[in-house]
Amino acid sequence: SVSSIALSDGRTIPQLGLGVWQSPADLTAQVVRTAIQAGYRSIDTAMIYRNEAAVGEGVRSADVPREDLFITTKLWNDDQGYDQALWAFEASLKRLEMDYVDLYLIHWPAPKQGKYLDSWRALIRLQEEGRARSIGVSNFMPEHLRRIVAETGVSPVLNQIELHPRFQQTDQRAIHVGMGIVTESWSPLGQGSLLENETLEAIAAKHGKTPAQVIIRWHIDQGLVVIPKSVNPERIAQNIDVFDFSLDDEDMQAIRKLDSTSGRLGPDPLAFG
Ligand code: A2P
Repeated sequence: SVSSIALSDGRTIPQLGLGVWQSPADLTAQVVRTAIQAGYRSIDTAMIYRNEAAVGEGVRSADVPREDLFITTKLWNDDQGYDQALWAFEASLKRLEMDYVDLYLIHWPAPKQGKYLDSWRALIRLQEEGRARSIGVSNFMPEHLRRIVAETGVSPVLNQIELHPRFQQTDQRAIHVGMGIVTESWSPLGQGSLLENETLEAIAAKHGKTPAQVIIRWHIDQGLVVIPKSVNPERIAQNIDVFDFSLDDEDMQAIRKLDSTSGRLGPDPLAFG
């Protein structure tokens, strides 16, 4: 079953959750309910996904107490700044119809705006108020992480970054380890682009699993938090059915070789926002 990872603030996060980026709002309540029934306890949304209300609805429709679930949402780039971040957080809670979230993230550093430090100060206040139980960031480069820690003394508990076998982020992960920051992988399946990769297909055949299951297991075995997205009930169930096999050294070495300097699928964090 899904284990939890310790965060530097004393709390924990389930290692496997459901991602809902590109999950259409009109499907998402049912998708979230299906996932919780399949055993997921963590859901990762964001203001910009436009499905927070549906996530809240799905959570309330499932037969699991709120305190057993881990809900993440994120501050969008247009809402950066101290006061703006506080307002945006209120709006997210209102859409979710929740009185707290487990984790609130700054979605992108948007360094050209120069506001992420003020946004971080707002998140610190939200955590002090208990309405964001844990606070972290997404798509932060080492320089952004170092700056917010140096200026506030408060470290983000995790950094959610693009990470999959084609873009393994080895250097950034080592920096996170040194700073006590958990790494969470977005687009863990490479947005589906890795599912017909020959190496991964061969490893999957060897274990009687699918390429998606091999990739998810790869994230978990390296201590990463992983949030595969699916809107399909069979694939949602498949993606959590990854605890009855393990990857061997040969598998890990083969996957290591898929890493590429041109493997990034999403925007460059220095240029975006
Ligand atoms: P769908 O939602 O139709 O299942 P990522 O999490 O890296 O962004 O990848 C998500 C993409 O991978 C989506 O297109 C999703 O499609 C697809 N996907 C998710 N799980 C599986 C799976 N087990 N098998 C095949 N495709 C999958």
